[in-house]
Amino acid sequence: MQDDFCSIAVLVSGGGSNLQSILDHIQQGHINANIACVISSNPNAYSLVRAKQANIPTHVIEHTRYASREAFDQELVRTLEVYNIKLIVLAGFMRVLSNTFITAYPGRILNIHPSLLPKFPGLHTHQRVLEANETEHGCSVHFVTANLDQGPLVIQAKVPVKTTDNTERLAARVLEKEHIIYPLAVKWFSQNKLICLDNAIYFDNEPLSTHIILTTKHEIELQ
Ligand code: GAR
Repeated sequence: MQDDFCSIAVLVSGGGSNLQSILDHIQQGHINANIACVISSNPNAYSLVRAKQANIPTHVIEHTRYASREAFDQELVRTLEVYNIKLIVLAGFMRVLSNTFITAYPGRILNIHPSLLPKFPGLHTHQRVLEANETEHGCSVHFVTANLDQGPLVIQAKVPVKTTDNTERLAARVLEKEHIIYPLAVKWFSQNKLICLDNAIYFDNEPLSTHIILTTKHEIELQ
């Protein structure tokens, strides 16, 4: 394996549709990378079934078994040591990471969040968007820093909020976009097109002053 090859660890807690979309694009040859392992904070996560079906090594690390956030994060770092990981992908991983983990992978942790950050950080984003009568919603991929949902933004996809929407319909429309922007960001990172240094993003070797908004032009890149 080349040094430059993008070996990925995916951290999950739930269903794993984002894990699956990245995996599908790797298997179809659209992303030149490898998912070296999947770590779940939840022993019952369907993500684990998806990983096993794809013969990806899995680990379950339950936070309830650790006395502190740091101890949990140290176990994550220890588990990942045997893999030569270039990129950490948080895909519905519902734990806040401490500096113990973040400093082990500087500029190399991506997260997807179901809102147009900086709007609606945290939980229950779809419900809060409906309650706030927003006309637009979406999802964001960003690099992870010590501040929850506040790391530098890479790409967002927008969806209109319809008067007929409920939480489920809106979430489904956003998730469809997540399945495009996350593989795209992973692809760009694996190509060294997307780099994060000292909390600043570089895209095609130029500072990225404003994050990217998904257009059909980008969707073609994912082929
Ligand atoms: C996704 O909607 C993702 O954006 C969200 O969890 C869901 C996981 O779905 N992540 C967060 O809320 C993180 N703050 P998946 O397990 O089907 O990929």
